[in-house]
Parts: sequence; structure tokens; C-alpha cells
Amino acid sequence: MKPVMPHAQLDWDDQGRPRSRVFDDVYFSDQSGLDETRYVFLEQNRLAERFAALPAGGRLVIGETGFGTGLNFLCAWQLFEQHAVAGARLHFVSVEKFPLSPVDLQRALALWPDLKHLSDQLLKHYVAIHQGFQRMMLDNGRVTLTLLIGDALEQLPQLDGQIDAWFLDGFAPAKNPEMWTAELFAELARLAAPGSTISTFTSTGWVRRLLNAAGFKMKRTPGIGHKWEILRGEFTGWPEDAPLPTPEKPWFARPAPLAGERHALVIGAGLAGCATASSLAARGWQVSLLERHAAVAQEASGNPQGVLYLKLSAHGTALSQLIVSGFGYTRRLLETLQRGTDWDDCGVLQLAFNEKERERQAQLAAAFPEDLLQWLDQPEAQVRAGIGLAHGGLYYPEGGWVHPPALCQAQSAQPGITLLTHQDVVELRKVDGQWQAFDGDRMIATAPVVVMAGAAEIKRFAQSAELPLKRIRGQITRLPQTTQSQALATVVCAEGYVAPARLGEHTLGASFDFNNDDLTPTIAEHLGNLAMLEEISSDLVSRLHIEEQEPERLEGRAAFRCTSPDYLPIVGPLADRKAFDQTYAVLSKDARQVPDIVCPWLDGLYVNSGHGSRGLITAPLSGELLAAWLDDEPLPLPRSVAQACHPNRFALRRLIRGQ
Ligand SMILES: Cc1cc2nc3c(=O)[nH]c(=O)nc-3n(C[C@H](O)[C@H](O)[C@H](O)COP(=O)(O)OP(=O)(O)OC[C@H]3O[C@@H](n4cnc5c(N)ncnc54)[C@H](O)[C@@H]3O)c2cc1C
Ligand SMILES: C[S@@+](CC[C@H](N)C(=O)[O-])C[C@H]1O[C@@H](n2cnc3c(N)ncnc32)[C@H](O)[C@@H]1O
Repeated sequence: MKPVMPHAQLDWDDQGRPRSRVFDDVYFSDQSGLDETRYVFLEQNRLAERFAALPAGGRLVIGETGFGTGLNFLCAWQLFEQHAVAGARLHFVSVEKFPLSPVDLQRALALWPDLKHLSDQLLKHYVAIHQGFQRMMLDNGRVTLTLLIGDALEQLPQLDGQIDAWFLDGFAPAKNPEMWTAELFAELARLAAPGSTISTFTSTGWVRRLLNAAGFKMKRTPGIGHKWEILRGEFTGWPEDAPLPTPEKPWFARPAPLAGERHALVIGAGLAGCATASSLAARGWQVSLLERHAAVAQEASGNPQGVLYLKLSAHGTALSQLIVSGFGYTRRLLETLQRGTDWDDCGVLQLAFNEKERERQAQLAAAFPEDLLQWLDQPEAQVRAGIGLAHGGLYYPEGGWVHPPALCQAQSAQPGITLLTHQDVVELRKVDGQWQAFDGDRMIATAPVVVMAGAAEIKRFAQSAELPLKRIRGQITRLPQTTQSQALATVVCAEGYVAPARLGEHTLGASFDFNNDDLTPTIAEHLGNLAMLEEISSDLVSRLHIEEQEPERLEGRAAFRCTSPDYLPIVGPLADRKAFDQTYAVLSKDARQVPDIVCPWLDGLYVNSGHGSRGLITAPLSGELLAAWLDDEPLPLPRSVAQACHPNRFALRRLIRGQ
């Protein structure tokens, strides 16, 4: 059975205001939504003065239950814009089980012309909003919105972060008691920063008592409109009679924040390095981006076209969650690039080219909603792709292709990033709290933080030599467009992939070779790619006049992918491997032990690597993940997914297996 579309089901009143059909309640006050939002949420949390007090480089994190139309978010953003200094940042985290469809959101936000300059930005980025954590960067990175799409009680326990001000806005308690439970309030308390404030439009007695019991000191305060009273409060500490929340295991806990200069060296200017540099620069860091070649995106990230290919699992694995979140994040980033040359959202069709793939696709079609993927039978698939096909398959309407160098260039060109080319870092040394990058005897650069983003080359550094990264050579073939091949309207994938032409050329990819270290393109692999094209569509083979192509004249390029044994990227802080083994040696005897000992971090050393065959989807969000680790911000991924990507996972597994 197809999952129900999770979008909000709305009715619109004669004033054009939305009302939830399921909850039979309004999204905002029918008198003046704006005044009510400003009074209940902004004033009661004293946001104007708190925004004004933020220093440059400071930030305030707001958490909300019920994103709805985003009105509260936009009002908070507007106030932030009015009061905060240029270098301050706003981070808004909101949970939403039934997100509005883009069309409904546009209709609802049209009610507030006052907020148009902000709602236009939100609407532009409101694409690929699917289940799980969905992050978007607004106002050139000054404002971060992290939407947790799903039930509040499933999503909030996965949030790793600290909230400075809570907005409770989950419909009236009588109509939606699930959003006002002791269990949920315990999560708000777990996430509350010291001195966190909280407010809500309701004054219901049992809500107030439950919030008090969770550690929020609540007060009734005069209401607005037809609300006689509302509630405001402050977090005064975890209640004494409640068991403390389980602390994070020390090997996944956050390293102590680094004081002092916010300067990072990022080594490697592919998708991972450029994304890391961009996420740090957006937060006011000075970044030196070190690259051994003459420009960004010269290795794996240098193909003319890569595909936004979602290899999902119907079982909600960490990898599948990462893919849905990463896809959304990349898709929204692309909205700021040039359609047609930098990327295109032409859709991606994955053919059910054998029985096993067909079964897998049937499971996926049952597990995911239609705005993410749809099953098309063979005639429908042909119409969609514009070419003859032997099979139906799964169609991803929001997918497409990307010119990865364009993304790297855009991300690395941001203010705060200095690109240092022809810098081949061979060694990292730590002296007086500073990491020094050496090219032989010459020190190239120094900073308190280093992010290693050089794909499998990071194994050359003593500190990361034991990370289990492997290189897999891959080659793409460039095929000139023909009049007939212009009909290709979507990316089509089977074992390989082919994209609609960019600047007169189709990219056909990609071979896998585990044993070849040479990057000169080979004819054998071009022929292998052409065999994959035949599997995709013999009609496209004739449209491209492949029979007229002389194999030795085929053009393409080869590069190394970099993969980890569990196919998840490696993103996060790095520990001293030997000290790690000693510190947690007891785990090799009893895997359930959690020694209360701080992890022996290599302070300031971080990794962003292992993006395998899907760097377009995982690398940009991994930049955000790293910046969140470094700046002590809410993570852009569920805790379990961030842990599944953590560099410590391998050392931990080996200890537990007693090796
Ligand atoms: C043939 C092929 C096809 C692919 N197709 C797709 C696709 O369709 N969709 C998709 O999502 N992904 C695809 N990928 C995977 C994707 O390209 C990678 O996941 C992604 O490019 C990895 O980015 P990265 O920044 O980690 O590595 P890279 O792009 O390899 O960047 C690493 C950079 O670090 C530099 N560097 C390394 N060590 C040092 C050092 N010590 N000092 C200075 N600089 C250093 C390198 O010069 C390089 O520029 C494909 C990969 C290949 C090879
Ligand atoms: C009053 S509306 C929020 C209004 C919103 N803050 C705004 O500015 O427009 C309440 C929201 O809570 C969402 N919601 C209801 N139950 C939920 C649950 N269990 N988990 C997450 N969200 C939920 C609804 O879908 C709805 O969008």
C-alpha cells in the first residue's frame, strides 16, 4: 500500500486563512496572526533584546513544535534582521509531522505582504522536504532552518543540540493532546540550554503543570485577542525527582569547544572540502582551503555531470536517512546555481532492469511518498524519458544532474575562504595548540583547526592512517549530443547512468575498477560504459549513432571514488587511535561498558571523507555536520545517523570484536 501523502490537508476560510482538516483547528489566530505570533512567541521569549545582545559570531537557537506555515519562523527572522548585528546568526529548529505542500505554503504566506522578502526566500528553498532532518540555509547562511519532518516524539529524541528559546505551537491541547505530553516536555527539557525560555498561546492548567514538572518554571501572563491568558517560562534545571537523561557515550560526545581564533585549514578542494569551507565561512570562520592542483574539483568532483542518484532502503537505515536528508540539502543549494549549465532538475529514472531490482523498487514504492519517488510502468517511463526503454522503473521527479565543479566553485568562492592552490600537504604537526600543514620541510599554513577532506589521500597523514578508506577507480564517457538524442528528457540509470546533454555532451557513467591505479582513460572501460548504455536503452544507442563511433576516439575521464567498508561517509572529530584503544580497552571484554572517561580527541582535527559514489548527495550536508560539530550547534542529522558517520565507529567496532 502506498504511504499516505504526509502533507497537511487544509481548508481555506473566506479570508483565505488555512485550517487543518485533520485537527479541526487554525494555524494562526483568526484575528491577527502576526500580532499574536509577535506577542506570544517573540515578546514572551524577550527575543528583541536577546537578538540585540548577540555579539558578532554569536547565535541564538529557537526550537518550535509545529512549523505549520512558518509564520512564527518568519516573524522571528524579521525581528532578528531588525535587531541583530551583522555577524550574528539565527538557527531555527522546528518539528512538523504534516508539512504544507509548496503550493499551500505559498498560498498561506501570501497573506503577509509585510514578510514577503523573507517568505520568498523560504519558498524558493522549500523543495525536497521529505521525512527526517531537512536543513536549509537562508540569507546567505546567516539564518539556518532545520526542519524535523515527522512526529515530534520520534524526531526530537534524535536531535543533538541546545535550544535557547522554545515556541510551543502544536494546535490546541484539547484538539491535539499528543503535542502536549510529559514525554515530549522531557525532550524539550533535555534539549534546553541553561536559562532557556519557553512560551505558548495556551494557558491550560494541565499543560502548565506538566511543563513545571519537566523543569520549566511557568507563569500565566495576560493574553492577546481572544486569549485571556497565555504561558511563559524559563528552564530552571532538570527536575530532581526524574532520572537524568542518558549522557552521550564518550566516544560520540562533543569535544570541548575550542577557544580562540576561528581559523581552519581545509585540505582538499573537492565537493567535501568546498562544502566544509562554505559551511564554516557562513558561520564567520576564516578558512584556508588547501588544494594540490591548480583549481578546485580536479579529481573525483571534476566530472562534467554527476547524478543525484538516491539508492534508498525501505528499512530506514542510517544510510537511507542520510541520503534523504542529503538529497534535500543539495537540492536546495542548487536553487542558487544556474539551471541548464550548472545543474538540471530533469528527474532521474532508475530502471527495473532485472527481477531483483524490480522487487527492490516495489518495496521502495510502497515505503516512500510519491513526491519523492513514483513507480512508472514501461510505457509511462518511455514517455517520461523521451526515448525507447525496455523496462519501467522508479522515477525521482526532484532528481537530476549536477556539474560538480560548478557547485565546488560556488561554495569555495564565498567571503572568508582563501583558496591556496598547488599546495600538497604531506604532514600535519601540532605545535602549541596549532596544527601546522607541511609540504616536505616547508610549512604551508597553520591554524587551530584542520579538516581533512582529501578523499582517500587522508590516509597519508599519521593521524588518520588507520581509517579504512579504499579507492575505486571510475571512468565516464563523454558522448556528443545528436539531433535525435535531444529527446532524452531525464537521467536514466540501470547499472550505469546517462544524462541529458549539458553544453552539447551527454555523460555516460561509470565503470568500477578496484585494481587499477592509473587514471589514463581506457578503451576497455569506454566499451564497458557503452555496454551499460545498451542495457539502459538500445533506442538511445541508435539515437547517439554509437555504431559510428570509433572506440579509440571516445573521450572521457577517470578518477578515484573513496569508500568506507559500510558505505557511509566518515565525518566528524578524530581521536588519537592508540590512546582510544587504551582508554576504552575494557570494551574488548565487555561491549556494554561505558567508561566515564573523556575521549582522547586530537583537538581541532576533523575528517570529511568517504563519499563513495554519491558525494553530490552526502558531501554538502557533511559540511554542515562538520560545522555543527565545530561550532557546537544542533546537528543537521539525527544523532544515530551522525554516529553512523562518526570516525570513531571503526575503532569502536574493532575493540568490541576484540581485535
Ligand atoms: C567516475 C565517477 C563517477 C561518479 N558519479 C557520481 C554521480 O553520478 N553522483 C554522485 O553523487 N557522485 C558520483 N561520484 C562520486 C563523487 O564524485 C565523489 O563522491 C565526490 O566527488 C567526492 O568528493 P571529495 O571532495 O571527497 O573527493 P575529491 O573530489 O577527490 O577531492 C579531494 C581533493 O583533495 C585534494 N587533495 C587530496 N589530498 C591532498 C593533500 N594532501 N593536499 C592537498 N590537496 C589534497 C585532491 O587533489 C582533490 O582535489 C562519481 C565518482 C567517479 C570517480
Ligand atoms: C498551529 S500549527 C503551527 C503553526 C505554525 N507555528 C505557524 O507559524 O504557522 C500546529 C502544527 O503542528 C503540527 N503537528 C501536529 N501534531 C504533530 C506531531 N505529533 N508532531 C509534529 N508536528 C505535529 C501540525 O501539522 C501543524 O502544522
